[in-house]
Amino acid sequence: MGDNMLINSKEMLLEAKKRKYAIPHFNINNLEWTRFILEECQKANMPVILGVSEGALEYMGGAETIVGMVKGLLKELFITIPVCLHIDHGQSFETCKKAIDAGFTSVMIDGSKYSIDENISETKKVVEYAHQHNVTVEAELGLIGGEEDGVANKLGFTNLKDCQYFLDKVQVDSLAPALGSVHGLYKGEPKLDYETMKTINENVEVPLVLHGGSGIDNEKIRKAITCGISKININTELQIAWSNAVRDFLDNNKVVYDPRKIIKSGEQAMKRIIQEKIELFSNHNR
Ligand code: 13P
Repeated sequence: MGDNMLINSKEMLLEAKKRKYAIPHFNINNLEWTRFILEECQKANMPVILGVSEGALEYMGGAETIVGMVKGLLKELFITIPVCLHIDHGQSFETCKKAIDAGFTSVMIDGSKYSIDENISETKKVVEYAHQHNVTVEAELGLIGGEEDGVANKLGFTNLKDCQYFLDKVQVDSLAPALGSVHGLYKGEPKLDYETMKTINENVEVPLVLHGGSGIDNEKIRKAITCGISKININTELQIAWSNAVRDFLDNNKVVYDPRKIIKSGEQAMKRIIQEKIELFSNHNR
């Protein structure tokens, strides 16, 4: 059996920043999704970040359950690529601490609902605890728009001055600057502020993260990577691909009732999206 261990996101993101490609962050919702993602990333030899929102954390039975499941899959599936298990949009120090104690290797503390100084003090608490445990921390500045798992935000752009002010006071390992992307489906064309993205990237050392990666066309994703994005979060496109395939399968198989067959019917559709994103994010640099 393989003995791959979960790792934090530090090295993989710094390497991606240096070589101008992006690490995929795919959100997981259950055992099958985790398995499909791991298998496809292993096939492409692509490091991966498995993102778990607070809603998914609760849904899958808590942090201990998820850590056990992921570690088991790494072993049983002989996964050898670098894999990081990450809390997506952690809303509080308590959520992050619980996940770290259970064995998550990375956390995002989303203090975007606070003023910048409150965001700094909440993030500082998390960084202090996380770094004692060799866990990496992602923060958000400005407001990423849209809705994910019941957490909804208006869009609020950030800027270089705020990023520098923030990073001067708290040593996070990656930063998600809100620059026009939204969670869920875009209403109209996504409009990203590439100029600011590039300026921030050139003036800060930490790798930058693009949330709301679904629904942004390939050309725009390539441009974002060129402007310095090192991690891209994808959830909605996997949800849509999987649910459309399952809906088709059920429409065409009226008497099926084995849940394994039903859930697995979304596998190929999901894997196609994963494969496409890996190729796109690699940016010819891997
Ligand atoms: P999408 O909803 O665009 O897939 O974004 C996911 C995300 O950013 C998770 O944090």
